[in-house]
Amino acid sequence: MSARYTTRILIPSDQDTYRCAAQALENGDVVAMPTETVYGLAGNAFDPGALDKIFTAKERPAMNPLILHIASAQAQTVMHLAEAAYIDIEGIPESIIDALNRVINAFWPGPLTLVLPRHSRIPDRLTGGLNTVALRVPAHPVAQKLISSTFPLAAPSANRSGRISPTSAQAVYDELAGRIPFIIDGDACEVGLESSILAYLDNSLRLLRPGAISLKELRRESGLKILSAHKHPAEVRAPGMLQSHYAPDTPVKTFRHESELMGLLKNHTPSTAGVLFLEPPSGTELLSLLHSRGYVFEVLSESRDLTEAARQLFATLRKLDQQDLSLLFAQVPPQDQGLGQAIRDRLMKAAAPKNLFSV
Ligand code: TXA
Ligand code: MG
Repeated sequence: MSARYTTRILIPSDQDTYRCAAQALENGDVVAMPTETVYGLAGNAFDPGALDKIFTAKERPAMNPLILHIASAQAQTVMHLAEAAYIDIEGIPESIIDALNRVINAFWPGPLTLVLPRHSRIPDRLTGGLNTVALRVPAHPVAQKLISSTFPLAAPSANRSGRISPTSAQAVYDELAGRIPFIIDGDACEVGLESSILAYLDNSLRLLRPGAISLKELRRESGLKILSAHKHPAEVRAPGMLQSHYAPDTPVKTFRHESELMGLLKNHTPSTAGVLFLEPPSGTELLSLLHSRGYVFEVLSESRDLTEAARQLFATLRKLDQQDLSLLFAQVPPQDQGLGQAIRDRLMKAAAPKNLFSV
């Protein structure tokens, strides 16, 4: 680690907040900002020094590219993206451009990232040397205001590489205190999971990362077939697909139903364990086993609402991870669609063996 900072948390209603944050960004420094998905660690996307600071603060591998966060006015259509010199429209067929325009119209600003052929002026440091660039128009008013009062911002999730994305200013502080000068506190993130990533790669549209905007909605708006990248990996390298991300320090084991958890608990007697339930557990045998062993458990949504479960997921994983448990059992949604798919994806990754290239 190079520079040490006294990290300050800024409040959006405070008059000085935007001036302070904009000044830091203009000086080539980084600022953690709220978005509707998760908090991002923002820096001037066209300042290589600022990009270096992002990679250093996160301890992120250089080959893992960053998302470019842009203003809504420059992102009304694919043509606007080309005119603003973010993308190279040349090789994109008309039918794909039309489909993407419908998608942009439906979901931007919002929790969707588009990966498209990059314009030559986009720094290699941002794209990790790929010939594509990831673009997003965040809906959060603080992020929008910061971008429109400064410049396009590179912003990965504001966690140390390989760890859980932060969904509150406090979580950012826990991750990056001392490594960055400012965090803008925009309250808890509304979505709670990182954006869905839709890419135009190998002549097809592919969902690289599931999020709040589902494959089904993207298919409906685009009117085109969209490949799920899990089933149809692109030939082009897509680092977002690497297996282990979002991992707590505590080892994670997934289960689907209470009966499966019962089986796991009968075979497994870790001294301390936690259970993350999507919805309230109902089995009396299970509840008494949890109580008798003194295992902690958390429920993501008492009302069985996946939107609420997604919003709570990372904060609850963090809370459980701070309790020195030897094992964490996590319930994954059965359905393979929409938010269920996105929650499932994060939990499967949390449970996957860790590798070097997580984000
Ligand atoms: O919701 C979000 O997208 C948040 C907020 C802060 O906007 N940002 C975020 O950034 O999740 P990050 O860096 O944690 O995740 C971005 C993912 C990474 O997996 C990265 O590899 C992938 O996007 N990515 C970026 N550029 C790409 C590209 N050109 N091709 C394929 N994957 C790309
Ligand atoms: Mg991340």
